[in-house]
Formats: sequence, C-alpha cells, structure tokens
Amino acid sequence: MSEIHRASTTAPVNIAVIKYWGKRDPKLNLPTNSSLSVTLSQSDLRTHTTASCSPSYPSSDSLLLNGSPQDVTGARTQACFRELRALRSALEAANPSLPKLSSMPLKIVSENNFPTAAGLASSAAGFAALVRAIANLYELPASPTELSRIARQGSGSACRSLFGGYVGWEQGSQADGSDSVAFQVAPASHWPEMRALILVVSAAKKGVSSTTGMQTTVATSSLFTSRATETVPRRMLEMQKAIQEKDFEGFGKVTMMDSNSFHATCLDTYPPIFYLNDVSRAAIKTVECINAATGKIVAAYTFDAGPNAVIYYLEENEKAVVGVFKAMIGGKDGWKGARGEKVEGNKEGLEAV
Ligand code: ADP
Ligand code: DP6
Ligand code: CO
Repeated sequence: MSEIHRASTTAPVNIAVIKYWGKRDPKLNLPTNSSLSVTLSQSDLRTHTTASCSPSYPSSDSLLLNGSPQDVTGARTQACFRELRALRSALEAANPSLPKLSSMPLKIVSENNFPTAAGLASSAAGFAALVRAIANLYELPASPTELSRIARQGSGSACRSLFGGYVGWEQGSQADGSDSVAFQVAPASHWPEMRALILVVSAAKKGVSSTTGMQTTVATSSLFTSRATETVPRRMLEMQKAIQEKDFEGFGKVTMMDSNSFHATCLDTYPPIFYLNDVSRAAIKTVECINAATGKIVAAYTFDAGPNAVIYYLEENEKAVVGVFKAMIGGKDGWKGARGEKVEGNKEGLEAV
C-alpha cells in the first residue's frame, strides 16, 4: 500500500464592486480592466477543497466537485496544475530527499456550500481553494500574490479570493501576465462595520457562463471600450479613495453605478445577455426606496453574472436595510439567503482570511 499525501483548505467567495468583464488574452486569462472586490470571509459562502496525490492513484488527475466528476483536461485547470507542479519540481530538485509529489497523479475533491455557476462567484472560491490546497499539499513557500497569479489562470475572479478584506486585481501590462495579480487594498479590520446581505432568487446555473459572456461582449459591444478604458479606471481610483476614507456613500454610489454599467454592457452585447430579472430589479427599487427614505446612501446593490443580489451596508443601518428588505420582499417574492435559509441578514460580517 503506497503512501497518500493530502492537504485541505477553504476559500471564501468575493463579490466585486468594480467588475472584471472582458479578457485581453483568453489563454492567460488577462483582463481588459482592473477590478476590486470584497472578500466575504464570514459569509459562510465558501469552497472546501482537499488535494491529494499518491503513486497508487489511477494515472490521470481528477476533480470531484460536489460529488460529480469534472473535466480536468481544460486549459485553465491544466495551467493551474502545471504551474504548481513546476514549483514543486523545483523544490524537489533543490532537495532530493523530498518525496516526488510532482510526478504523482492528483485527486481533488471540492464542495461548494452555495449555488455553483449561479452568479455567486463559485469559480472564484473554487479556483482559489484548488490552488491553495495543492500549494499546501506541495508545501510551497508561495506568497498569496504568487498564488493569485496562478489562480487567475483558473478563473480571473479567483485571484482576489486569496486575500481578505478589500482586494484589487491589477490588470497588468506584461504579455506573460506576470503582473496581473491581486493585492490587498485594506484588510477587513479597516472597516469592521461593513456587512453584505446575499439574496438568492435563483440557484440555477446561469444560461451564459462568465467566460462565454465576456468574450461575446468584447467582440460585439460598442459600450465596452469606454467602460474598460475610461469608466472603470476612473472608478477604481474613486473606489480605493472611498475605502481608505471609509466613505460609505462614495463606496455605495460607485458600487451601484458599476453594477449598472456592467449589466448595461451585457445588454449591449449581441445577442444580448440578460443576467438580471424582474426580482433583481425589485431589489434595486427597494435599495432606491431605502436610500430615498434615509436621505443618503445606506445600502448599495451589486449583481454579478446572475440574478442574485448582494447588498452592502454598514452595521448601524442593519434595521433600515435588512429590516426593510425583509418587510418589503422577504418571503413575498421568493428571495432566500444564500444557503436557502430565510433572509436574516446581519450574519454577513467580513473578516480577513
Ligand atoms: P460563478 O458565477 O458561480 O462564478 P462561472 O460561470 O464563473 O460561475 O463559473 C462556474 C464554473 O466554475 C463551474 O461550472 C465550474 O467549472 C467552476 N467551479 C465552480 N466551483 C468550483 C470548485 N469548487 N472547484 C473547481 N471548479 C469550480
Ligand atoms: C461578473 O472570474 O467567473 O463576477 O475568468 O472566465 O472564469 P473567468 O470569469 P469569472 O468572471 C467574473 C465576472 C463577474 C465580475 C467579477 O467578479 O469581477
Ligand atoms: Co465566476
């Protein structure tokens, strides 16, 4: 019976407030614009992944996601395996007494405790966990920055889930993608009052995957260029300033405007991509009502590539935001918490990973 080497990790989802949408290099997964997100470390939305390897495993690598075998022959997963194996190989070459894990087949077993491919960043938590689990298995001395460069090749948004708190992804300018990595803008402890309410209207798999959707947008949308080259660069600076200054009104306004800009770009894609539905639009209206009634921005909605809403707010406005949400649409329009429970809100604090 030969040995089995094993390591496990978890990674949280991150929800962008400045969205990544567009690839300048689909092979290396290099984006057309920088982006910025909040890692929801305390939200309970996470991936748990175990990576193992053994000379006794069947000869090909495998990945089991929520109990179903996945194709690992795709270029993205292969890129992650290849990069991590190369780093392990270098360690083994420098220290011949180390077991030769780099030449053993890998078995990855992963569970998402929230809907997969429904616009709640499963590819982000999923590839961040996959890369970190293998890095742990291989005992690599790799920094989060280096792991983010590898995870980016699995799914772009995954590079941001390797950091906690407020996280940027610099689009970079190198052709090989070496400078297209995530960085921490501020730890969660910088703004501990921040909360995120996650509302699920549909746990179904989206009709158009993020990968396909953004490539169609780049090829057909006339709004896309001004978004990528003018709007987003300006808002990246505004957003970082709002976070540094803990200015929720600035943070909220830019968050909502960027979500609107991203979904407008989707509508401007041909054929058009509709990620929002009537219930999503009801959530937008509800946020508008809450902010109008309060006389300032106390709640900010954002939607990834799916109909499900994430509402950012500060703890002091819990009642005004979660209370009103529950009263106005909780139950009535079928919103649920991200794990299928009734909407409670307040649990979604943020914390550094
Ligand atoms: P989402 O909005 O959930 O990120 P995407 O369309 O971006 O949806 O990506 C969904 C895909 O990400 C899945 O079909 C699967 O291929 C991959 N994925 C999701 N979770 C995991 C995981 N835990 N491990 C590996 N890959 C995953
Ligand atoms: C709308 O990272 O899922 O959530 O790199 O093709 O895997 P791939 O795409 P993905 O796209 C995320 C798009 C988004 C915005 C964001 O998270 O920044
Ligand atoms: Co995704």
